[in-house]
Amino acid sequence: MRSMRAAVLEAEGKLGVGEVAIEDPRPGEVLVKVTDCGVCHSDLSHIDGSVPSATPTVLGHEAAGVVEAVGPGVTGLRHGDKVVLTPLPSCGRCYFCTRHQPTLCATYSSALLTATRPDGTSPLSRGDELVYRGVGMGAWAEYVVLPEEAAVKVADDVDLAEACVIGCAVQTGVGAVLETARVDAGATVLVLGAGGIGISVVQGARLAGASVIVAADPVPERRDAALRFGATHAIDPNETDVTTFCMDLTGVGMDYCFEAAGQAALLEQALATSRSGGTTVAVGVPPIDQGITIPMVAGFTVTEKRLVGCLLGSVNAHRDIPRLLALAAAGRLDLAAMITDRYPLDEVDAAVDNLRQRRGLRTALSIA
Ligand SMILES: NC(=O)c1ccc[n+]([C@@H]2O[C@H](COP(=O)([O-])OP(=O)(O)OC[C@H]3O[C@@H](n4cnc5c(N)ncnc54)[C@H](O)[C@@H]3O)[C@@H](O)[C@H]2O)c1
Ligand SMILES: [Zn+2]
Ligand SMILES: [Zn+2]
Repeated sequence: MRSMRAAVLEAEGKLGVGEVAIEDPRPGEVLVKVTDCGVCHSDLSHIDGSVPSATPTVLGHEAAGVVEAVGPGVTGLRHGDKVVLTPLPSCGRCYFCTRHQPTLCATYSSALLTATRPDGTSPLSRGDELVYRGVGMGAWAEYVVLPEEAAVKVADDVDLAEACVIGCAVQTGVGAVLETARVDAGATVLVLGAGGIGISVVQGARLAGASVIVAADPVPERRDAALRFGATHAIDPNETDVTTFCMDLTGVGMDYCFEAAGQAALLEQALATSRSGGTTVAVGVPPIDQGITIPMVAGFTVTEKRLVGCLLGSVNAHRDIPRLLALAAAGRLDLAAMITDRYPLDEVDAAVDNLRQRRGLRTALSIA
């Protein structure tokens, strides 16, 4: 057990930095010293209560760091190893893992809801009080204790300050394209929302060889960023009707549409902009009181449209984190330009405010 600094969400809207106790790693777990952690809209959804969570909790789930200690039985990692962390480890043995759907792992994915270990305990506490581990990780903190499967060893020369963004945004966005949707070369792609996730979808679509990539975002700087990252068109949804634009461009609607803003109404818009037989991917996580309507199911049926969910880009972290780093090293995936601002842990409020005000692209905390 050791004491550390962590950003604790005490209650809806109330985030503060203070001391939290963290256990030593149990069998099969690792203790990682967090060097960098991004700020994702999924953290903000918990802070603002649009997706409620148990409190007190430590948020932060887009992280990288260095292994400090390993628990009994851990053989694949040791003190000093650089690691990129994944919020959705997979056990490799459950119903879903054995069917190649590792992000749905029955052993670990429930942690997204429970914010605890599978057995209901947490490695975090304050005196007698249990502190939850938000979004499967709790990395707005100096240390995390996680199952060894959550830590993917990377080469010593990897820049962790850049690589942290793979943990959520890049795994999710690129994975949504390559794994969830399996976009084919030459396809036409629409991305609604050009934040950290949407820009990663744009990068994935470029990697897949999409011929047309339309990005829509009301923020001018984010539309400019989308063009730099590979979008062929960037439109302001407040000025241009997205569906009309895409119909005029392609004549039939888009092959693939990604909702990456987290608004249910935009998922309806994505579905309306999909061509017959096209695929619409729900990547954003809207507030839990929002739903969608399919106004005419008969039309949905006979157009053979596909609507699919997407959790962390349906990735296999131990295959995909090294693969994404290799693409970055080859100059085919830009990690460095995704993080536009950095703050120390003590200034977590300012970092979250950047996300809320849509300043820059991704903001990260530099913790060690
Ligand atoms: N499925 C997953 O596994 C997964 C993983 C991470 C994040 N998410 C979710 O993805 C969503 C995006 O996350 P983020 O961190 O990129 O958020 P973000 O706030 O950085 O980006 C959202 C973007 O949507 C844009 N937007 C707002 N209204 C729009 C409109 N009408 N049309 C087009 N764009 C619009 C905003 O300007 C902003 O740039 C969130 O809902 C988040 O919870 C899902
Ligand atoms: Zn995230
Ligand atoms: Zn599993």
